Amino acid sequence: MVDYFSIKWVDGRVRMLDQRLLPQRIEYLDFTDYHEVAWAIREMVIRGAPAIGAAAGYGLALAAENSNSGNLADAVRELKEAATILLDARPTAVNLSYAVERVMQRVTASPFTDFAGFRRLVFNEATAIAEENVRMNESIGRNALPFVPEKASILHHCNTGALATVAYGTALGIIRAAHEHGKKVFVYVDETRPRLQGARLTAWELQQLDIPHAVIVDGAAAYIMKEKGVDLVTVGCDRVAANGDTANKIGTYNLAIVARAHGVPFYVAAPTSTIDLSIQSGSKIPVEQRLSIEVSNIGAECIVPEGTQVLNPAFDVTPAEYITAIVTEQGVAYPPYSVSLPSMVAAAEAKRKVITSE
Ligand code: MRU
Repeated sequence: MVDYFSIKWVDGRVRMLDQRLLPQRIEYLDFTDYHEVAWAIREMVIRGAPAIGAAAGYGLALAAENSNSGNLADAVRELKEAATILLDARPTAVNLSYAVERVMQRVTASPFTDFAGFRRLVFNEATAIAEENVRMNESIGRNALPFVPEKASILHHCNTGALATVAYGTALGIIRAAHEHGKKVFVYVDETRPRLQGARLTAWELQQLDIPHAVIVDGAAAYIMKEKGVDLVTVGCDRVAANGDTANKIGTYNLAIVARAHGVPFYVAAPTSTIDLSIQSGSKIPVEQRLSIEVSNIGAECIVPEGTQVLNPAFDVTPAEYITAIVTEQGVAYPPYSVSLPSMVAAAEAKRKVITSE
């Protein structure tokens, strides 16, 4: 097994595994400037909602570290500029704004009298966000164990593993936890057109973990459910609205409908940092539209006739009615989500307050 990580703070730099190169090459990039971090998020050097959040936090830590303002008020103004640029990098994953707002709130709420104190505050909050993610993911895996039979065929979409998070993974964390508890799992890995996060990243991570799997094209899900049998579908999320509508990688909504048609339970793995109670329903979730070249080209080759219009929504929103349960680190949320999700978020906030005041 290769020892790898998605993101780490190393000697005043942000180090990221360049996910665009996997599985062919394992190469890390070091960033010293928050503009570079925003670029890395946009270009998907790093991707996956929790990893994007961690990157944004560390991007702000770089901004504070590099500040050469004459006074603290200017340094905070500079940090706000950095926050705006980072917030702009990708629109759908709410973890990005969660991380940026959390660091900025910390700066506003806590006293500091010198540059060292200012930098420490920003860095510590960024580190807390990253470290919390690891614990959250392990808890999600544990909380979902009752949903995974001793011998289970699981269908998974996109990549939600250690690469998409700070470590362990969310939906892939559920699969990993089941495997670690001795359950015999087999994973059908949706290739996940157009960026192939399933084929390139999830298959690679499952290989590292020695978990049996097969890659399928996205359109094969119904066939596999009917002909082979699937016990559950598990996916991650980029933003969950207050009513449970869930934005995730394009194709998730199709999969949820296919799962319903075959009576297969559909579980969303969601750290509470991905729940956005300010948005009442999925219709308010901003869906990123990416460049058409991601669809029209495979590598250097253009596969559509010249002049063909291409649409490339990067995410879709699965209506809450198709979701069997949303597994968070605080416990399992069941419908009605407008009741269960706020209690999960409140529990997470209460725990954080206790930890911060200790
Ligand atoms: O475009 P990506 O690769 O950032 O999309 C990733 C996903 O949609 C994941 O399923 C989601 O972020 C959850 S990752 C734990």
